[in-house]
Amino acid sequence: MTAPLYDLDAVRAEIPILRTHVPVNNCSHAPRSRVAAAAAQAYLESWNERGMDWDEWIAEVEAARAEFAALIGADPVDVAVATSVSQATSSLASALSWEGERRRIVASAAEFPTVGHVWLAQERLGADVRWVPERGGRIALEDYETTIDERTLIVSACRGYYQTGFKQDVPRIAEMARAKGAMLFVDAYQTLGTEAFDAPGSGADFVASGNLKFLMGMPGIAFLWVRPGRADRLRPTITGWFGRADPFAFAADRLDWADGARRLDVGTPPVWAAYVAGAGMRWLRQIGLDAIGAWTSHLGRRCVEGARERGLTVLGPTDPERKAPTTAIVCEHAHAVEAALRESHVIASARGPAIRVAPHFYNTVDDVDRALDAVAAEIRRRR
Ligand SMILES: Cc1ncc(COP(=O)(O)O)c(C=O)c1O
Repeated sequence: MTAPLYDLDAVRAEIPILRTHVPVNNCSHAPRSRVAAAAAQAYLESWNERGMDWDEWIAEVEAARAEFAALIGADPVDVAVATSVSQATSSLASALSWEGERRRIVASAAEFPTVGHVWLAQERLGADVRWVPERGGRIALEDYETTIDERTLIVSACRGYYQTGFKQDVPRIAEMARAKGAMLFVDAYQTLGTEAFDAPGSGADFVASGNLKFLMGMPGIAFLWVRPGRADRLRPTITGWFGRADPFAFAADRLDWADGARRLDVGTPPVWAAYVAGAGMRWLRQIGLDAIGAWTSHLGRRCVEGARERGLTVLGPTDPERKAPTTAIVCEHAHAVEAALRESHVIASARGPAIRVAPHFYNTVDDVDRALDAVAAEIRRRR
């Protein structure tokens, strides 16, 4: 593959920072696109010109909800709008019962810490968290198999892991969970936007993501998909007026529940972030997630090959089928390396003992090579 199936130059023209920098940090934060800037500006204009326009603002939140739903092959009624993955997961956890025999949570320590923290916080209410180990940057299916049992209420996994980019086989874990009567929560933050993902077909019961990484959005908004039929029994204690059947009924003494996943909405929605998130997801969908997936896996493969050619050590999986575009390169003092790379206008992201090179649909093979050259030079300089 020498080029993506879309017009790469046209895409790149939408991202001004590419004129001066090589951003390969999507695992942490997307670059600002003209698409995002126009959407952000539309909110500022609306606020300035009309003073207040709740009808339009709520319509933008609904448009973002619908975009997220379309992105994962779902119905908007099954999507909750949150302000972060932490909040979405907390709201979900607050709706589950941690009493009785079935009160176990099976999670992996390789998940983004915030999700682990939410699960651990449920222990005070009776939950019992069991950890599936990470071995060599992978979380083995056999380890889930031996940890999930009839006492498990929910299993927690990622489609892609933030540190190594390891991609989990979600349908297999969903089968294991279902076989024991447990539900599956999937954090898809590190892969949504890089591949076509069918939430209903994945077997998961809940899928969460924020928008500021590969979805080309900004902080302040996240979404939680709930499998149809699962939401009706949920009564979250983390709630608010947007979780009501009619938020504008203004009945403080009546706790009714919106249909579907909407009951997990909480307070005033993140309007500004919704403008930007909706525009980012729309852009990606217009380009096409299959075409983006083909190009990002090509770039991911190039990251691994290029790292090997430069004598760099990759943390975790190197098999292109099992990894997201993110490649973690082992290095000491990763944060100092990240700062030094900025001097050569390469934006990569340090996490733990590695610097992560995470190209996206707008990157070229040359970007990847330039980023790896800079990483290799910096690691050599520090020896
Ligand atoms: C996989 C994953 N989940 C969750 C988060 C954080 O979620 P939030 O800050 O929206 O709670 C991150 C990164 O910031 C992440 O990489």
